[in-house]
Parts: sequence; C-alpha cells; structure tokens
Amino acid sequence: MADTRPVVFCSWGFPEAGISLLREHFNVHVWDGPDGAPREVLLKELADGAAAVLALPPSDRLNPEAMAMAPNLKVISGFGVGFDYVDVAEATKRGIAVCNTPGTLTETTADQAWALMLGMARHVPKGDRYVRSGEWKKYEPALLLGTDIHGATLGVIGMGAIGTAVARRGKGFGMRILYSGRTRRLEAEAETGATYVPMDELLAQSDFVSINCALNAETRGLIGSRELGLMKRTAILVNSARGAIVKQAELAAALNSGTIAGAAIDVFEVEPIAPDDALLACDNAVFAPHLGSATFATRSKMSRLACENIIAVLHGHRPPFLVNPDVWKH
Ligand code: DGY
Repeated sequence: MADTRPVVFCSWGFPEAGISLLREHFNVHVWDGPDGAPREVLLKELADGAAAVLALPPSDRLNPEAMAMAPNLKVISGFGVGFDYVDVAEATKRGIAVCNTPGTLTETTADQAWALMLGMARHVPKGDRYVRSGEWKKYEPALLLGTDIHGATLGVIGMGAIGTAVARRGKGFGMRILYSGRTRRLEAEAETGATYVPMDELLAQSDFVSINCALNAETRGLIGSRELGLMKRTAILVNSARGAIVKQAELAAALNSGTIAGAAIDVFEVEPIAPDDALLACDNAVFAPHLGSATFATRSKMSRLACENIIAVLHGHRPPFLVNPDVWKH
C-alpha cells in the first residue's frame, strides 16, 4: 500500500537515533548513496512535495531557488548549529520553519578547537609523521620545539556557547582570556575570567586566537591581511567555526611570510578544499576535515534533536530549536 504520510527527505544517511523517530510518523526518504544527496536529487524531492528536509550544513544550499521549487515544504531542519546554508529571510517569508541543534555540539566542538590548538602548538602531526618516517635517531633537545599554552593569552572571537566552552578550557590551562564580539557576555566573563576588548586589541595581545563566531554578513571575511598583520609573529590562529570568516588566500600568505606562526584549521572557504590550494602547502598549519562535532555520541544527539524539530513542526507544535521565531505566529 502506498505510504501517504508526509514525506521527509534526509539528504544524508544520518544516525538512526533520529531517523528511526521520523519513521514512526512519516514517509522517510533517506539518500543512501555516497557523499550526500546531489543537488538535483534534493531539488526533485522538494518539487515532488517533501514537507520537511533534514539537511546537512554547510553543504546543502537551501536558497530561494530551492524554496521556490518546494510547494509543501514546512520545515528545514539542519543537522548542526550553523544556518548559513539557508536563506532564513526567504524561509520566513514563505512560512518555512528553520531549525538547528544548538547545545548538542557545544562541548564537542570546543574539544576539537583545543585538539587542533594543542596539535599545532606542540607539533603533534609533525611529530607523528617524523616517528613513522624512521628518521628519528635520538632524543634531540631542539627537536620540534613548540609554544606553551599554559600561561599564554587566548583570544576568543565570538563568546557564544562554543566560544565560552573554548574559554572555559583555557581557564583550566591557566590562560589569560580576552574576547571580542558584538555583545558583551557578563556570564561568560564571570565563568571564565575573560576580558572584553575590541577585536584589534585581542589580535595584538593574544598568543592563540580562536574563531568561534557565526558566519553572517558581518563576519564574512572578518580576518584578512590587516587583522593577521596585527597578530604577534609567534601567534597561532584556530578556526573551528566557518572557513569564510577568514580570507583563506590571505591566511596562506601570512603563514608563508611568517606574519603569524601557525594556524589550526577545521573549516575552509570551500569544502572540501582543493588539493592545490595554497593553504595546504603551508607547513606551519594543521588541518582537519570539518570534524568539530564528529564524535559518536554528539552526532547521535544531533540527529535526534534535528528529527525532533521536524516532528514538532509537522505536528503543529513549536520546535525545540527554531532559528526564525517570526515564522511561528500560532
Ligand atoms: C555546525 O553545526 O554548524 C557544523 O559546523 C556542521 O555544519
């Protein structure tokens, strides 16, 4: 018998923790090929009447073109916290709820920022390659000398939930913490001992600069040659937020010229980054393929929450995490 329940399209084989919840209520179409659903498949599902899409930020682009093709779409639920992949104003205009999964990945993403920071400061990937290569002959006093994290100054750009979690870890490492951003965060200051400063001052004073703001019109290209030039020559830039906050070519130039000492990068302007991108040729950087929230437990929680958002909207209830509250007039 044909399944006449509303269709939910999942653009990836997301963890079953959430998908199994969806199956109890809806006709669930899950893309089961490699690499996530191609755009034409996403658009066809929308055009064929999907009521909800469980989308993968930042890869899926839910732009006006996609929404114009979606006669029944009521909810776009992102598997993640960032919503720069969707045109929220257009969704609101069309009465489509946009949902995300904040809270589920805060601590995990902060762990990853720290993993990269420690890896860069203490040359973990280089050391690993060196040991494996068989070149290591004896203990050497000057081998792969790094930068101390304890007692150093950590600058957090964007003291939201993830920025605060990064700062909290910094406090545990005995760091002095500065932060900048649109809003002063008194609670975060009380918790982490952080001091609110203008961004230029943060750049000039920090030994480690961690980017933790959202990508939006204000933060796109926030860090370029001028800002990198304000940083200490010994400083390390950490980006676990969104690649487009940093002008990638200018970062590569700064790393090559020694304007800054290093970078630890989880996110790129375009993902995946092209293998011949100048940034990848920089030896004084460590990279990860957008792994901020990549733990078994967190990805399950994200799936569950993203699906609970869908279930709520399609049952006429306000979802737990709604990015565009203006859409919810009832
Ligand atoms: C997020 O949650 O925004 C992650 O970066 C995945 O896009």
